[in-house]
Amino acid sequence: MSSLLITNIRQLVNVREHTSVLRGRELADLPCIDNAYLLIEEDTIAGYGRMEDLPASNQQPATVVDAIGAFVVPAWCDSHTHIVFAASREEEFVDKIRGMSYADIAAKGGGILNSARKLHDTSEEELFNQAWKRLEEVSRLGTGAIEIKSGYGLTVEAELKMLRVIKKLQEKSPLSIKATFLGAHTYPSEYKNNHQGYIDSIIQDMLPVIARDKLADYIDVFCEEGFFSPAETETICRAGMAHGLKPKIHANQLHLSGGTQVGVQLGAISVDHLETMDEAAIQALAHSNTIGTLLPTAAFFLRMPFQPARTLIDAGCAIALASDFNPGSSPSGNMNLVVAMSCIQMKMLPQEAINAATLNGAYAMELGQELGSITVGKKANLIITKPIPSLAYYPYAFGANLIDKVMIKGEWL
Ligand code: NIG
Ligand code: FE
Repeated sequence: MSSLLITNIRQLVNVREHTSVLRGRELADLPCIDNAYLLIEEDTIAGYGRMEDLPASNQQPATVVDAIGAFVVPAWCDSHTHIVFAASREEEFVDKIRGMSYADIAAKGGGILNSARKLHDTSEEELFNQAWKRLEEVSRLGTGAIEIKSGYGLTVEAELKMLRVIKKLQEKSPLSIKATFLGAHTYPSEYKNNHQGYIDSIIQDMLPVIARDKLADYIDVFCEEGFFSPAETETICRAGMAHGLKPKIHANQLHLSGGTQVGVQLGAISVDHLETMDEAAIQALAHSNTIGTLLPTAAFFLRMPFQPARTLIDAGCAIALASDFNPGSSPSGNMNLVVAMSCIQMKMLPQEAINAATLNGAYAMELGQELGSITVGKKANLIITKPIPSLAYYPYAFGANLIDKVMIKGEWL
C-alpha cells in the first residue's frame, strides 16, 4: 500500500473525529492541530496528530513530505456551479456597465437564453473540452468536489446533452462531481406563452430519460418572479423526487420568491442564493434540515446586496458557501475569493467561512461522510498553503494566490 506522510504542518485545519452538518454557532468552531503530521494511505486519510506524538511505526512510510510550516486545509467543496456552458458573456457585462438592466438584457435575448442559443450550436465534445478546462482551473484553485447543473439546454435534446457532458466529467475527472438537472432555469422562447407546456415537457419528456440513464442526482428550479412560481417549483420538484432526485433550489435571489419555504417544505438538500430574505424565510430555514447556500460572488458581480450571513448564522441556520460559477452572474469559480468575500462583505469569521466552504459544502452535496474535513477514512483532498502567518491571513489577503499544492484523492495535482 502506498503511504504518504506530511510532516511539520504549521496548522492542520478542520480536524474532526466525526462530522455532521454545522449550524449556527457551531460554524465558528474550527478544530485545528498546531505543529501536526498527516498520514495518507492510497487516497484516504489514515491518521494525524501532533509532531511529537508521531508513532515510530509511521516514521518510515514510502514518501515523506515536509510541509515546512505550511497550513493544510481540506480542499473546497463547491456545491453550486453551472460550469457546462458554450461561451462567456462579457458583452452583456459591458452593456450593464453602460447602464442596461438585467431585464433590458433579457428582453434583448440575452441572459440564460443567450447561453441556451450558444449551447444548441455547440457539440457535446466541445462542451466537454471547455468544461474540462474549467474543472482543471478550479481544481488548481483548491476545489476538490463540485456540483454541476444543466439548465442552458432548455430542450429535451440539449438538456440531455449537458447532463451527458457532466456524466463524462464524472467518469474522467478525479474530482467528486454531483449532477443537477435544472431544466426549469427559464422558459425557452417557444414556450413564452405556454408555461404549462414547458413544465409538461420537463416532467414527461426529460425526467423519465434522466432517471432511466441515471444522469442526475438532484433537481433544481429557478424559483423567482418572472421565472418559476413556488407552485410550479413544487410541481417540478415533486416530479423529480418521484424519480429519486432530491431538490436543491435557486431561491430568494432577486425577490422574496417563496423559494426558501418551498424548499424547506420539500425537504430540499439546500436552498441557494438567499440575497433577498425576510424573517419568515429566515425562520423557515433555521428550523429545517435544509442547508442555506450563499453565493457571494454572484451578489458581487450583479452589484446586489450581499446575503445576510450574520443574521442567518445567528438564527441557527446551516450555511454553506459556493461559487455559482456561470457565464451570467458569477464568471469565476474561485472559492478562495468566495471565502474572502464572505468574511469581508458578509462578516463571516474566517472559521465560519472555512467550515461553510468545506464541511457544509460537502454536506450540501451529500458528501459529508467522505469529504470536507480532516477525518480518518475521508478522502485525502487537501490544500497546502504557501507560508502564511495565520489562518485569518488567508481571507484577509484576498486575491493573492496562497496555494502551494493541491491534493485530490491522494494524488498531487
Ligand atoms: O445562479 N439565477 C439563475 N441562474 C444563474 C445565472 C444564470 C445566467 O445568467 O446565466 C445563477 O445566478
Ligand atoms: Fe446558480
